[in-house]
Amino acid sequence: MNNSPIWHPFTQHAITPEAIHVDRASGAYIFAHKNGQTEEEQIIDAISSWWVITHGHCHPHITQTVQEQAAKLDQVIFAGFTHDQAEKLAARMAALTAKSFGQPYDHAFFSDSGSTSVEVALKMAIGYWTQTGHPRSKIIALEDGYHGDTFGAMSVGGRNQYNTLYKPFLFEVEHLPVPEEGHEAKTLERLKTYLKKNKDDVAAFIFEPLLMGAGGMKIYSPQALKAMSDLCRAHDVLLIADEVMTGFGRTGTMFACEQADIMPDIMCLSKGMTGGFLPMGLTLCTHDIFEAYYHEDRAKMFFHSTSFTGNALSCAAANASLDIWESEPVFERIEHITKSHSTAAKELAQHNNIANIRHKGTMLALDIVMDDEKGTDYLSTLQPRLYGLALERNVLLRPLGNTLYMLPPYCVTDEDLQEIYATVKNVAAQVAASD
Ligand SMILES: Cc1ncc(COP(=O)(O)O)c(C=O)c1O
Repeated sequence: MNNSPIWHPFTQHAITPEAIHVDRASGAYIFAHKNGQTEEEQIIDAISSWWVITHGHCHPHITQTVQEQAAKLDQVIFAGFTHDQAEKLAARMAALTAKSFGQPYDHAFFSDSGSTSVEVALKMAIGYWTQTGHPRSKIIALEDGYHGDTFGAMSVGGRNQYNTLYKPFLFEVEHLPVPEEGHEAKTLERLKTYLKKNKDDVAAFIFEPLLMGAGGMKIYSPQALKAMSDLCRAHDVLLIADEVMTGFGRTGTMFACEQADIMPDIMCLSKGMTGGFLPMGLTLCTHDIFEAYYHEDRAKMFFHSTSFTGNALSCAAANASLDIWESEPVFERIEHITKSHSTAAKELAQHNNIANIRHKGTMLALDIVMDDEKGTDYLSTLQPRLYGLALERNVLLRPLGNTLYMLPPYCVTDEDLQEIYATVKNVAAQVAASD
């Protein structure tokens, strides 16, 4: 039962225990009162609080920078006005992407979430074709993709339980099968055929590069991404990389697209952008895209905004996060987690109700299989059991159906990693024993 007026996201309040009250968080830990208890418990945040925390909760440098900014400038209308934190951040993102891709994204459009960064990207791309005098009407995406819960983002996302209720209201998208290992040829063939049939009418291809999150932590190779990208390029189709989850190191490189040696026309960022400290969406684009809207005719401007776009505190947090990337050994930490996951993956593979182990950078995922368990989708009855059992051991894992995944903040210690793996084993064994 829920005694609070709060309607929580992705929560069935009729059967979910009351939300756990959190007082504070630090590094890889959340300090909370479980089941209304008075004593505080230390919970390992093994999923970076929905994949946002990179350097750890309440990193002192981000905290201090935001505090200082708060005393100076909070928020200002971002049309006709600008400020130092936003200017600095846009310039730093240009430099950072130049390092990753050999050339910078020249233009940065701010919003406030992953979904809004995707909406902006789709509107930029669709508008690009009309503004340049060659309207195109089709969008390609991947089955099982997840890009957020606003209508444009839902439309390009896979058609599944996340959006069943809204299906009649979603716009038409060509969804390709995910090019997972062994399925690459099928995807490429489908893409080739579609591009040929819809010549000069495909506006953009949107994808989560290499690692697809909410659709089940599916992975595919840089070669497959490169091949899809080459086919799209051959038909002048704009590439939109949704790096909302993969950006800022999750897959081992700063941006996942680097591994496929591609530079998309548009890139969506959010989650790890501020180190997870404050909300921010950022849509980066090349000069070509910007230029399509650059005109003396006011009717050709980009008609998009959100009230808090360019928020000074969020920009300050993002700048502070970039400072940490420059001053602390963040890539060494990422490398360490990657190696640790790789060793754990081999060990976890020995367990007989653990299958389909996949590993990409700081993400390690596996499926719990049960003889009598049919539910492998998001609503699998295993999900609440797995979640509850892990939480009993003070490890926050939020399975996607029967898929357990680990995606810790980069400051996670060895000891915590071992505790996370031990918890996964223990949870898997407990559900096996109880069936
Ligand atoms: C790849 C991807 N794109 C977009 C989103 C939506 O981001 P937000 O929840 O901030 O709107 C998510 C969220 O999980 C995501 O993983």
